[in-house]
Amino acid sequence: MKLKKTILLLSGSLFFALAGTSVHAVDEADAKKLLKDSQCGKCHDEKRNKKGPSFKKTAAEYKDKPDAMALITKNLTQPHEVEVDGEKVEHAVVKTRDAARIKNLAEWILSR
Ligand code: HEC
Repeated sequence: MKLKKTILLLSGSLFFALAGTSVHAVDEADAKKLLKDSQCGKCHDEKRNKKGPSFKKTAAEYKDKPDAMALITKNLTQPHEVEVDGEKVEHAVVKTRDAARIKNLAEWILSR
């Protein structure tokens, strides 16, 4: 009897451990909030190309690259020049320094 109880307890914690992993999946609401707060929507949409490529297009382009996360993270955090309507402008960076939020946004973009 005692053993059965232990097994039940163990499988119970295993369940919570696994459920915990899936909860860690991309936080869509926070990704969207960060995009909004950083005013990325002026030039990017999830599915539609605007002045910049849609995140769906970016995800398709990067999905087979082993260093996709590093490249996207750099793109989101380091100012660099891009061309908008034939003019060179400085690309915006996200309005946070929280590495976890930046990682979450990069994962969200790559999973479009
Ligand atoms: C003024 C318009 C503009 C704003 C604002 C802007 N972007 Fe961009 N973004 C672009 C353009 C144009 C490109 C394409 C650069 C290229 O193809 O070389 C780009 C490229 C990107 C890429 C990489 C696409 C690729 O294929 O390499 C990502 C990711 C991205 N932007 C995310 C963001 C995020 C996140 C924000 C907000 C912090 C943001 N952008 C704000 C215009 C903008």
